[in-house]
Amino acid sequence: MSNFIKAAVIGHPIKHSKSPLIHNYWIKKYGLAGSYEAIDLAPDELEQGLHDLIARGFTGFNFTIPHKQAVMALCDEVDRSAQDIGAVNSVHVCDGKLKGFNTDAFGFLHNIKAACPDFRFNAGAAIVLGAGGAARAVIHGLLEEGTPQIILSNRTRTKAEALAQDARIKVIDWDARAQILGEANLLVNTTALGMDGQPALEIDLSNLPSTALVNDIVYAPLHTPLLRAAKKRGCTVVTGIGMLLHQARPAFREWFGMMPDVDEVLKGVVIS
Ligand code: ATR
Repeated sequence: MSNFIKAAVIGHPIKHSKSPLIHNYWIKKYGLAGSYEAIDLAPDELEQGLHDLIARGFTGFNFTIPHKQAVMALCDEVDRSAQDIGAVNSVHVCDGKLKGFNTDAFGFLHNIKAACPDFRFNAGAAIVLGAGGAARAVIHGLLEEGTPQIILSNRTRTKAEALAQDARIKVIDWDARAQILGEANLLVNTTALGMDGQPALEIDLSNLPSTALVNDIVYAPLHTPLLRAAKKRGCTVVTGIGMLLHQARPAFREWFGMMPDVDEVLKGVVIS
């Protein structure tokens, strides 16, 4: 069946990935002919494994830890967003060519836009905690939205400095992270802190204005200690689950030719 679309997420490990739930929900909801599975490939199996899957008719891929950088080198084309972020999280195989792109910045922005349509990214400074792969996508999205200043703080300062290529990004010490909160229009945690099994993110929010929006990209638990503390201060909070859901949309559109919606049923399926 030539119009049956085969897609997959590739990672190592992969069994906890929520992506099959999301994409298969949409395939069913929109009555499309396709499948989406989770495939475990170790780094040394990636190149051969990917080519074997393409030979078996797969045309859509998502990539997760630890492949997002390595897969770039295997692509024939890489879009601007993926180049700027330095990672590919999605590939579409078209006429035998691998087109790599990155939907994480879209996911970050659209999670906040869907939850808070009136929020203005350009109204003030954003404080970004962390300087890993997720932070790269968040910073890319913020710069695209015209955020006038990004204050970046990471435990390993040199990693934050390596991301501060734009004049609008200022790096501060990890120990100073609570002191600059008074300037925040937006506070985003991109570190793993607060995730189930990880230590909590320790940060004194006394200086954080109640007008600031607070977003955590951690979604397990949904209501992280950071979000609970921010809510107590009267801040608007946005959980991280929507970033996972929204980042899936442009990849689905690329493979299946239609932009899917994030609905309440899907949220429930993914959270449970
Ligand atoms: P991701 O792709 O999800 O961003 P990552 O690239 O491994 O994952 O980055 C993890 C981020 O969480 C980093 O900013 C890391 O800080 P370092 O650069 O100093 O390693 C941050 N992080 C992880 N554990 C932390 C901890 N215990 N305290 C402070 N920051 C931590």
